[in-house]
Amino acid sequence: MTENKNLLDVSGLTAGYGATSVLKDLNFKVAQGEVVAIIGRNGVGKTTLLRTLMGLIRHSQGIVRFDHQDVSNLKTYQRARLGIGYIPQGREVFPRMTVWENLKVGEMLQQPGKGVDYERVYEFFPILRERARQRAGTFSGGQQQQLAIGRAMVGKPKLMLLDEPSEGIQPNIVKEISRNILKLNRELGMTILFVEQNLDMIMKMAQRCYVMDKGQIIDELEVTQLRDRELMRRILAV
Ligand SMILES: Nc1ncnc2c1ncn2[C@@H]1O[C@H](COP(=O)(O)OP(=O)(O)O)[C@@H](O)[C@H]1O
Ligand SMILES: [Mg+2]
Repeated sequence: MTENKNLLDVSGLTAGYGATSVLKDLNFKVAQGEVVAIIGRNGVGKTTLLRTLMGLIRHSQGIVRFDHQDVSNLKTYQRARLGIGYIPQGREVFPRMTVWENLKVGEMLQQPGKGVDYERVYEFFPILRERARQRAGTFSGGQQQQLAIGRAMVGKPKLMLLDEPSEGIQPNIVKEISRNILKLNRELGMTILFVEQNLDMIMKMAQRCYVMDKGQIIDELEVTQLRDRELMRRILAV
């Protein structure tokens, strides 16, 4: 048998709100070390998917395997401890807490006594040290995104889930955030799964791309297709 290097393996996933299924028998895989994008129009279920992977929404059918372990019935903090980091849509930093307190929340999600690495976070995002005592709510969108990524990095995740990291952020800062996320992948070996609508960010970052519609993965794009701006425009506009 060939070695199975899938870090994330989702099969037959069905989940939603109350009696309504948003995700319908959804299937995809992400290999260790990959940078993979999920694209699709508003309302197709991208955020619901990431929230379900994180255990914030209960699934009704299917299996989520992470690092060869069935995590489908684990709680959110257990998934975080196993090595799934999550940066929600809109970032969700705690605005009235300081930058330092926000980072501590990332630490609290982890196993007590497990080594946490603030130095590495500060090396990536020096502003988080320089402004440690500032309230997070006073940060710009781009700075809050750095904080949200830093908060997830504290636990040294193997897989980072990002939900529309470019949303509400100025174009020049989007470039910087793309660079930082790629650096997480290249220097720290983190596997990246990100939801995105920003064409430049998708083309710059993704090695592979899943297209989502009506709660399912309906297509997969390889790197040559990802470099085709016209094709990507058409798909994003569908
Ligand atoms: N908390 C909720 N309760 C009920 N329905 C929801 C909730 N959040 C999202 N939905 C519905 O689920 C569908 C998918 O939403 P979402 O996952 O946010 O899509 P996307 O992230 O792709 O824009 C939409 O029809 C949306 O209205
Ligand atoms: Mg969304």
